[in-house]
Amino acid sequence: MIITIDGPAGAGKSTAARLLAKLIDFQFLDTGAMYRTVALAALNSGFTSPNESALEKILQNLNITLEDNKVFLNGADVTIQIRSQETTEFAGVIATSKAVRTKLVELQRNVAFKKNMVCEGRDQGTTVFPDAYCKFFLTAKPETRANRRFIELQEKGVSANPKEILDAIIARDLRDETREISPLVPAKDAMIIDTSDLEMHKVIDIMHQEIKRRGQI
Ligand code: DC
Repeated sequence: MIITIDGPAGAGKSTAARLLAKLIDFQFLDTGAMYRTVALAALNSGFTSPNESALEKILQNLNITLEDNKVFLNGADVTIQIRSQETTEFAGVIATSKAVRTKLVELQRNVAFKKNMVCEGRDQGTTVFPDAYCKFFLTAKPETRANRRFIELQEKGVSANPKEILDAIIARDLRDETREISPLVPAKDAMIIDTSDLEMHKVIDIMHQEIKRRGQI
C-alpha cells in the first residue's frame, strides 16, 4: 500500500512523511534524495549545466541505494554531501531532464513494489503512483517556508540572508511548477494541507485521521 506526500520545498513534507511512516509502521521513501544523488554524481563528473546525453551516460553507471536514512552512491555514503547548497541547486536543474525522471520513476516503483510505503516528493501522487491508497499535498506560504529554512540554518550555525532564502524558494517553486515533465501540481484526488499555521503534530493528526477514515489501516 502506497501513501504519497507531495509539495514544494519547506512545506514540511520530509518530517511529516517520516513521522507518519513511523506512526503507521510503513517504510519511508525520500525521492528528493534520489534527485540530489544524481545531481551529485553529475557534479562529481564535472557537469554544471544539464546536458541530456551526458546525463544519460551518468545514469548508466549509477547505483543509488537508500538504507536506514542513509543514501549511497555507488556504495559510498553521500547522506551529508547531497544536502550541500551546490547540490541542492543543481538537483532542481537535473530534475527537469527526461532521462533522469524516467530512470528515477522506474527506480521508485521498484523500491516500493509490494511494500507499505510513504513516498515523498513532487510527483508521487500524479506520476509515479497514480493509484496510491491515499494522497496528500502539503504546502505553505513562501515566507513561512523561507523562515523555516532560515531558522534551520541558524540552528546549524550557518549564516544566511532571509531575503536570499526567500528568493531562492520562489525561484525553485517556479522551476518545479513550470517544468515540462511532471510539474509540481497536486493530484486531483490529493488532500491539500496548508501547514503555514499548523504545528507538525497537527499535520500528522490530520493525515492519520484521513487514512483511518478510508478504513484499511
Ligand atoms: O525535496 P528535495 O528538496 O530534497 O528535492 C530536491 C530536488 O529534487 C528539488 O529541486 C525537487 C526535485 N524533486 C523532483 O523533481 N521530484 C521529486 N519526486 C522529488 C524531488
